[in-house]
Amino acid sequence: SGLNYTEPYRPQYHFSPAENWMNDPAGLVYYNETYHLFFQYNPAGIEWGNMSWGHATSKDLTHWEERPVALLARGYPENVTEMYFTGSAVADVNNTSGFGVDGKVPLVAMYTSMYPVAQELPSGKNVLAEQQSQSIAYSLDDGETWTTYDAENPVIHNPPSPYGAEFENFRDPFVFWHEDTQKWVAVTVLASLHKVVIWSSDNLKEWSLASEFGPYNAVGGVWECPNLFQMPIKGHPSIKKWVLVLGLNPGGPPGTVGSGTQYFIGDFDGTAFKADPDNIHADNKSANWMDWGPDFYAAASYNGLPAGDDVVQIAWMNNWQYGATIPTSPWRSAMSVPRQLSLKKVNGKVALLQQPQHSWRSVANHQTLKHSWKSVSKGSTSLDSPGKAFKIDLSFADHDSDKSLASTFAIAVRASSDFKQETLVGYNFTSKEVFVDRRNSGDGSFDKTFASLYHAPLSANADKRINLQVFVDWSSVEVLGGQGEVSLTAQIFPEGNSTEARLVSTDGVTQDVRLRISGMDSAWH
Ligand code: FRU
Repeated sequence: SGLNYTEPYRPQYHFSPAENWMNDPAGLVYYNETYHLFFQYNPAGIEWGNMSWGHATSKDLTHWEERPVALLARGYPENVTEMYFTGSAVADVNNTSGFGVDGKVPLVAMYTSMYPVAQELPSGKNVLAEQQSQSIAYSLDDGETWTTYDAENPVIHNPPSPYGAEFENFRDPFVFWHEDTQKWVAVTVLASLHKVVIWSSDNLKEWSLASEFGPYNAVGGVWECPNLFQMPIKGHPSIKKWVLVLGLNPGGPPGTVGSGTQYFIGDFDGTAFKADPDNIHADNKSANWMDWGPDFYAAASYNGLPAGDDVVQIAWMNNWQYGATIPTSPWRSAMSVPRQLSLKKVNGKVALLQQPQHSWRSVANHQTLKHSWKSVSKGSTSLDSPGKAFKIDLSFADHDSDKSLASTFAIAVRASSDFKQETLVGYNFTSKEVFVDRRNSGDGSFDKTFASLYHAPLSANADKRINLQVFVDWSSVEVLGGQGEVSLTAQIFPEGNSTEARLVSTDGVTQDVRLRISGMDSAWH
């Protein structure tokens, strides 16, 4: 396939396309014991354009095989008349669509058709506007090849009045089967109006408007890529809640620039989503952030997972602020580690928890470093080099301010031998925040906002400890704090020989430190 997995910055256990531009995951569906990952893809270059659906498959969510492009922009390459924007896919096991023939189960994808349309402005000037509406396609060969439903596409036209003004920004359908009402549901956004618009259908072809939600909470930029799914609350299995996850761009979490992801916990009856009152913030600005870092966007969840399995999401590990200028070649962008989601009461409030989906263990190797310290002294403590791809479990005692105790404690990773270049992942005992500091992490020259410090609130667990899991790859760090109630994802572009690590305890000592580092092998075959 022409892959060269030793290229500078090439992710070793995160999915990235062999070459060319990738953005949102779209159409995540598990069918016939295979995980499908479709994604926004430009077959012709490392910048956004000619939007098509790329395709990769996996048996375990960690080892991926890139497949031929699934939906190639119509008219490509000469004269693109339709691009296939973000959407979703389902296995229509009851053949409600009628697309299945000879007993074959159709996979049905819904995507946003982006048509360039000539439009005459009131001034008389002619412009090429963007017409977005929702269309479907089906596959009878497990996602390898697709047929667009040209007879009736688009199946959801630009919304009727009163939405007419938002002609240009109606997109990102997330379709799923709603068991209780035995109907298909499609969740879309009117991106610039900060509204989620919900549709329902019996056959995936004819859709009727069901309800709308929003605007609420973070509305700093357009709303994109909605997702809606149900989960029980851990420890209260009879209580099930619905979670709405939304991208917004720009207007991400405090301290970031560009894209971000927020969520709402609430209820959904097959028609309308209603957020719990404590999930609607009165200031109309703050939000439940799914990730507090700069590089976690367009999170999408799997359809078709076996009943009883937790929800699994994958996000685009990049940011529209600088996505098109990151210094990688001949590809741009990678996906996050797949995240297993759950709901649990943490400090009195139901929180969305994230854990790495377990298959990451299949690439963990035996080069494991394990060490504990009653007390890590002030200053820096050297560690054996863990290399460039590894997973860290770091746990230590929390404390309140005290002269002899640290103000911050961190592990430095992907550091140069003189430690002039390093990425710090740690905890601030005063502000009670976990942080990622990529100010000296390597190349940041391509964007002036890149070299920054990111933080997220995290309280100690009941045992008064801070627990961090950190996934480090050739060009990223992903931090999950506590039980997974906070997540911080950030790309980094360190020099290739930056393989050192150390502990840094500032202003005083850090107590009861436990560290385990597992080496990670390449997941490519
Ligand atoms: C989000 C997004 C989507 C759109 C797609 C186009 O990253 O802007 O709203 O469908 O990218 O590539």
